[in-house]
Amino acid sequence: MRETFPLFPQQASTLAPRVDALYFYLIAVTIFFSLLIALSILYFAIKYRRRSESELPRGVEGSLKLEIAWSVIPLLITFSFFIWGASIFFAMNRPPSDAIEISVVAKQWMWKFQHADGQREINELHVPIGQAVKLTMASEDVIHSFYVPAFRMKRDVLPGKVATYWFEPTRRGRYHLFCAEYCGTKHSGMIGWVEVMDPVDFQSWLAGGTGSESLASAGAKLFVQHACNTCHRPDSLARGPNLEGLFGKKVQLQDGRTIVADESYIRESIVMPNAKTVAGFQPIMPTFQGLISEEGLLQLVAYVKSLSKAAPSPEGVAPPVQNSPPRSEAKK
Ligand code: CUA
Repeated sequence: MRETFPLFPQQASTLAPRVDALYFYLIAVTIFFSLLIALSILYFAIKYRRRSESELPRGVEGSLKLEIAWSVIPLLITFSFFIWGASIFFAMNRPPSDAIEISVVAKQWMWKFQHADGQREINELHVPIGQAVKLTMASEDVIHSFYVPAFRMKRDVLPGKVATYWFEPTRRGRYHLFCAEYCGTKHSGMIGWVEVMDPVDFQSWLAGGTGSESLASAGAKLFVQHACNTCHRPDSLARGPNLEGLFGKKVQLQDGRTIVADESYIRESIVMPNAKTVAGFQPIMPTFQGLISEEGLLQLVAYVKSLSKAAPSPEGVAPPVQNSPPRSEAKK
């Protein structure tokens, strides 16, 4: 019966049962109070109905106890929504540190994926079961929204920003992927599948790829190609901040603010370098808006991230520093 008329999509991620449990709790509370109020209205309407034309109602004294009760009890109940909801919200927004990373570029009207080792796919995403997957998502044109009902995940992908999200699949199978934000004529066709595989099958699927280069090494090439390394360097000729070990760290800005160097900040610093100038540097970096594709930007972000992971620098490309500061595993 459930298979023929499914009321709910399958629960295929670690977060799905948690989201559903909260949802059912909200429904239960709603049903309870709807009945309580409706039945009370009915009961009081009958009990205190006017019995004769001349009847005058008695005056009603207030009751402090009652008023406190109907204020405090609903307060506690709504707090339970908030605390439960916030705990799921935090879990959704904190990818585990062992998550594999996949970059996603949305455009009218397709989803483009690139795995960390370079394997690309369109409208289809292969992931291993039981492994957290972190998505780094950007849009080439308008607002799209990455939506996989079976994972209970939906995240808007806005142009000019990097959105991150994660999930950990718990069931094998193929799950529908939608775009959940109206994005033009073929919005309804901007769909695909997420295929959850056994880790062994996933490895052989990855190995059967076209052997394109990894995200970070593609980013490293762009870094040299656009001569970023002429300014972002460790020696006295450096005119831009040192990028090694930067990702996930706090950065002091010219205007006194402090921000965390995350994906969005790194992307923004490439296309709008003067939006948040780092303290101690001149706002002299030219913009690369329009010069680097959205995919290229995500590759550069992956490269900057790789400089904080104690990963060996991609072959043939010198890292921007030699004397590295203490490396950090710091993650957002
Ligand atoms: Cu993309 Cu709707």
